[in-house]
Amino acid sequence: MSLSGKYFVETYGCQMNEHDSEKMCELMEQLGLESGDSADSADVVIINTCAIREKAEHKVHSSLGKIRAAKLRNPDMVIVVAGCVAQQQQHELSKKFRHLDLVLGTHNISELPDLVEKIRKDRQSIIRVGFAEDIRSLHMTAPRRGPRPICSYVTIMQGCSNFCAYCVVPYTRGREQSRSLVEILEEVSQLCSRGVKEITLLGQNVNAYGKDLGNGNRFTELLEKISNTRGLVRIRFTTSHPRDFDASLATALGSLDKVCEHIHLPLQSGSDRILSSMKRGYSFSEYLNKIEILRSKAPKCSITTDIIVGFPGESDDDFKSTLTALEQIRFDQIFSFKFSPRPGTKAEHMADQIPEKIKKERLAEVHSIQDKITQGYHKQLEGSVVEVLLEGRGRQNQFYGRTRTNKIVNFDDTGSYREGTVVRVKILRGLNHSLFGKIV
Ligand code: 5AD
Ligand code: SF4
Repeated sequence: MSLSGKYFVETYGCQMNEHDSEKMCELMEQLGLESGDSADSADVVIINTCAIREKAEHKVHSSLGKIRAAKLRNPDMVIVVAGCVAQQQQHELSKKFRHLDLVLGTHNISELPDLVEKIRKDRQSIIRVGFAEDIRSLHMTAPRRGPRPICSYVTIMQGCSNFCAYCVVPYTRGREQSRSLVEILEEVSQLCSRGVKEITLLGQNVNAYGKDLGNGNRFTELLEKISNTRGLVRIRFTTSHPRDFDASLATALGSLDKVCEHIHLPLQSGSDRILSSMKRGYSFSEYLNKIEILRSKAPKCSITTDIIVGFPGESDDDFKSTLTALEQIRFDQIFSFKFSPRPGTKAEHMADQIPEKIKKERLAEVHSIQDKITQGYHKQLEGSVVEVLLEGRGRQNQFYGRTRTNKIVNFDDTGSYREGTVVRVKILRGLNHSLFGKIV
């Protein structure tokens, strides 16, 4: 069967979620629907949600509230909530929002077309959130939207088996499931034959790739094999776990030409006491040791991280250890968050929850230290010439691309160079969050 009309997808959360949205767009188009410009005028509205922190979770409630009036005008509209909040709140959501038609779990994306058709026919709401042993959408290819996408995501694994004390992911996405190596290689080569130049390998814990398949960790082997793909220029990957980081990955980052010199390696805290309470599986000195190995084998590699402030029991001294860690390691960039108690996690009801005011102050301190470090790196690049892959047109009609180290570079003009070309760029200005340059 096929349907007509428009669909609209609103996405929150991580790159994994962005890619799931791309998969849902693909499925809606296969069903005959066209992409629309707004939720209000669409026939199928999909809200793809994130549950990682309370703030992200609240967005689904406000989106569902806003769409209510449009549904009253168009009772045939099908409203879907997908993603991590759908997985976690299931019945709660459909009870609270009577105009919601479908609650779609993170393992059920491939069922979307059938369920939308069924809802259109029967006009009854559905909750579909079961975990699967083999997630069917893991096998789907979905290039990035747009006329000629030159960058694309490829999922290599989904889920997480680590159970860090603060994190909802194992509950919302299930345990680690890796895709077969052959299937990944086929997808990469298919995308490259359609003009893709850069791929980002996705997974909650990419550098644990293959462990669940029974042959040990095969992430570095995967990088080596993907490197042989014709037409592929750059390989990126995210997110890596420090515990699974080893010297072979450091060597790959320093020696494989197509693998970009950047790793996102979430530290979370600089205090051993907090790391242990978070159940991260490493101490600060073990983390530092891995950074040293990385810097010795891949000296040009940029390193970014995630930091949580105000985890339960975090004393002033624990927090100072995090600040010292930032000064000591000098990350290129960090993403920092106030601890947010997540339903069902170990940390939700831990003793010594930190008052909001202190979390806020700590976050501001983290920002002020890191901003100087990031700006320092950007200033250091002024006058140097770097390799940039031209990606497209951004804000204020400027062009943009990224360095191999994942720093955004903006330009006023790209001359005769087109998207998808690697150009050499002289950095003229190192700004707070990006670089400004000129093609040479
Ligand atoms: N509170 C605050 N930050 C969190 N993160 C994950 N769970 C929480 C939480 N409950 C952060 C971690 C993780 C990033 C994706 O989000 O830093 O690495
Ligand atoms: Fe958010 Fe985590 Fe779900 Fe991604 S996997 S959408 S970060 S909760």
